[in-house]
Amino acid sequence: MKGRTKIVCITAYDAVMARLADNAGVDVVLVGDSLGNVVLGYPTTVPVTLHEMIHHTKAARRGVQHALLIADLPFGSYGASVEQGVRSATALVKAGAEAVKLEGDFPETIEAIVKLGIPVMSHLGMTPQSVNRFGGFKVQGKSEASAQRLLSELKSVESAGAFSVVLELVPAALAERATRETSIATIGIGAGAGCDGQIQVIHDVLGLTDAPLRHVRRFAELGTQIADALCEYTESVRLGEFPTEDQAF
Ligand code: KIV
Repeated sequence: MKGRTKIVCITAYDAVMARLADNAGVDVVLVGDSLGNVVLGYPTTVPVTLHEMIHHTKAARRGVQHALLIADLPFGSYGASVEQGVRSATALVKAGAEAVKLEGDFPETIEAIVKLGIPVMSHLGMTPQSVNRFGGFKVQGKSEASAQRLLSELKSVESAGAFSVVLELVPAALAERATRETSIATIGIGAGAGCDGQIQVIHDVLGLTDAPLRHVRRFAELGTQIADALCEYTESVRLGEFPTEDQAF
């Protein structure tokens, strides 16, 4: 699809949301480790375990029929050794993923996973699992040195066999240059419109998260709608207005 049509990617972590995304015609459903923040209530993605990723990948698998299903390798499930990464990727594929995503420049691990038959998506720029090293969720690649580092990491993961790369929180001009210079598909989040595709966290675009982030457009305000509906339900039960004869047998 690179260079022909924009690639639409979104996260989903359970069967219901995955089915809704799949029915909407997205190209990729990512079981992202962002589930740590938006579903499990962790402050970052760092605490997310492989076990939790497997659980949610199995659920999302039941909702997806058409889109490519990718699952994130969580922090601590790769990086210690190539074998560790291969074993973790294998577990996610056995849970139903068709490809895996991993953050950072780990060419040997990518190569070994690809050799086993598992497509790998890379993730560069602001990689949330390294938030403690970055000192916060900051745009990456602003200085010449850091832009060069990103471009060189991109070459490295491309040569290792990654089929695609997420570029997170990088200046639009750099993402556009990276997209021109690589043969693999670039998927942006907070990286401007010049990437081959876009990815968003489903809770953000549906208005289910609190803080509006600059790179997010809320396509709905479901959080407010859900809160209103639940208040109405609570009041109706307390006032004896629900159920009525219509809901009785
Ligand atoms: O975990 C995630 O949701 C992600 C996307 C934001 C790219 O990695």
